[in-house]
Amino acid sequence: MSRPPAEPRERRPPAEPRQRLTPAEPRRPALLALGVQLLAAALALALHRGLLAAGVRLGLPWWALAQGLLAAGLSWRFRQSRWWWLMHALFVPCLLAASALRVAPGWWLLGLLLIALLSWNSFGERVPLYLTGRRTERALFEVLDALPKTLRLVDLGCGLAGTLRRLARRYPEGHFVGVETAPLTFALAWLRCLGAKNCVVRYRSLWDEPLAGYDAVYCFLSPAPMPRLWEKVQRELQPGALLISNTFEVPGEPAREIIELDDWRKSRLLVWIR
Ligand SMILES: C[S@@+](CC[C@H](N)C(=O)[O-])C[C@H]1O[C@@H](n2cnc3c(N)ncnc32)[C@H](O)[C@@H]1O
Repeated sequence: MSRPPAEPRERRPPAEPRQRLTPAEPRRPALLALGVQLLAAALALALHRGLLAAGVRLGLPWWALAQGLLAAGLSWRFRQSRWWWLMHALFVPCLLAASALRVAPGWWLLGLLLIALLSWNSFGERVPLYLTGRRTERALFEVLDALPKTLRLVDLGCGLAGTLRRLARRYPEGHFVGVETAPLTFALAWLRCLGAKNCVVRYRSLWDEPLAGYDAVYCFLSPAPMPRLWEKVQRELQPGALLISNTFEVPGEPAREIIELDDWRKSRLLVWIR
């Protein structure tokens, strides 16, 4: 099989850890976000009542704006990341604007269902769905080219299995496993690998997938699970096997190799040898 030419990119020795969870970052930011919205709604209501008592009547858009500003302020107070501030500020005003569109309620329910089926697991795991880019994939191919053609690789949280499928095509003698726990994502990934002999997708949590027997573990997750994943790798992965993480590092464990991809999301591949 012909191999595409490698893109120019920078390989460099490990740097200081970049993505850490700050001590202020909560383990369940979604719960904190809910609390912030409810508290802001209560404060906005109290403000509304106070103004009413003073003879000032605010329209619904003003109330929504006040609630959004209060929520953004609370988010700042609870030291959430900046992008949360904007989300909090816009949430209720957007709800109000959306309700003015007069879309049949069934469509909102359908949208909610789709989102839930694609990402309900990210509530606990803090790992949403986003996909490995082609440039990163080519760098991954270069790392894997050094392994035997019969390599066994697992993609922990394989998403829609696009990368897994392309890996299986590139290394026809290899064996590729994807695990995924978002129901709709899993179903699509499973269908996608249905015709491939050397590629299988399982509905299984990455924490339940035994890593012994794999030559390489690939993951594109988030900063949150990396410390626990590192412990699992230390327990289960055979010596000499690779852990390859797209972008997210293991705090305090410098990677053997870091490949900067120089793309819009500042991707990089971090490679550890067990
Ligand atoms: C950022 S996506 C990466 C998708 C794919 N590996 C890629 O690189 O294109 C992470 C995926 O991990 C899945 N995920 C999150 N927690 C998981 C878990 N505990 N077990 C299995 N999959 C999980 C998410 O549903 C999501 O599809």
